[in-house]
Amino acid sequence: MNIGIFGTGMVGQQIAAALTAQGHSVMIGTRDVSKSLANTETTAMGMPGFGAWHKDHQNIQIGTFAQAATHGEILVNATSGAVSIEALTSAGANNLGSKILIDIANDLDFSKGMPPVTKTTDSTGSSVGEKIQAAFPNLKVVKTLNTMNAFIMVNANLVENGNSTVFINGNDSEAKKTVTGILESFGWKDIMDLGDITASRSVELLLPIWLRAWSVIGNTPFNFKIVR
Ligand SMILES: NC(=O)c1ccc[n+]([C@@H]2O[C@H](COP(=O)([O-])OP(=O)(O)OC[C@H]3O[C@@H](n4cnc5c(N)ncnc54)[C@H](OP(=O)(O)O)[C@@H]3O)[C@@H](O)[C@H]2O)c1
Repeated sequence: MNIGIFGTGMVGQQIAAALTAQGHSVMIGTRDVSKSLANTETTAMGMPGFGAWHKDHQNIQIGTFAQAATHGEILVNATSGAVSIEALTSAGANNLGSKILIDIANDLDFSKGMPPVTKTTDSTGSSVGEKIQAAFPNLKVVKTLNTMNAFIMVNANLVENGNSTVFINGNDSEAKKTVTGILESFGWKDIMDLGDITASRSVELLLPIWLRAWSVIGNTPFNFKIVR
């Protein structure tokens, strides 16, 4: 299947590599292709810059946000939540069409240092997932994977043999079924459907506790688990 991923950061990289390894044709979208490919500087998280990473992943295509939107039958939003609407607007509503968009974004404000502040409860009281769905009503937005580190997203077995919890929500049941299949392909077994797109607010609001837990646990893989 053709997949378009918006975002050159560690989430875009991990999702792109995992889906490519499964045999999908993946294009990553960015604002400036040349600039992204020229970026070989190690990030603050100790990750290779996109250009350095791409040298080892040349089977993954790179294009503008609009080209990635056109390429993908299924789309993934892995842009910074504060600018996701801007990125999707530059992808173009016509190119987005009525496709499934897997939204992984959180709106975090790093301007005052660590831990960042989550901006989900802003004056509109809504989440990135809801804002994308409202701005692009034809898209089938499915929110998932935003509550864990990028490496765990595509390899659930890193925590509890794949038995920790991944949340999913969105308005379209068929789209959620399709995305559930993708999650299963990443090893997820405990996939909890929280309902319609308004549930994005609750999962985006898990970030403050995730970030605090990270400051205690560090880089050892961990995740939320709903115990019944
Ligand atoms: N990192 C994690 O482990 C993790 C875990 C859970 C959820 N998330 C969420 O997943 C998303 C991606 O995270 P990340 O760490 O991979 O990358 P990120 O640094 O949060 O975002 C990178 C992407 O945002 C785009 N971007 C930045 N400013 C922009 C603007 N003004 N207009 C359009 N696009 C812009 C960048 O475009 P260019 O390519 O053009 O620079 C880049 O592709 C975020 O929302 C994050 O909160 C991350």
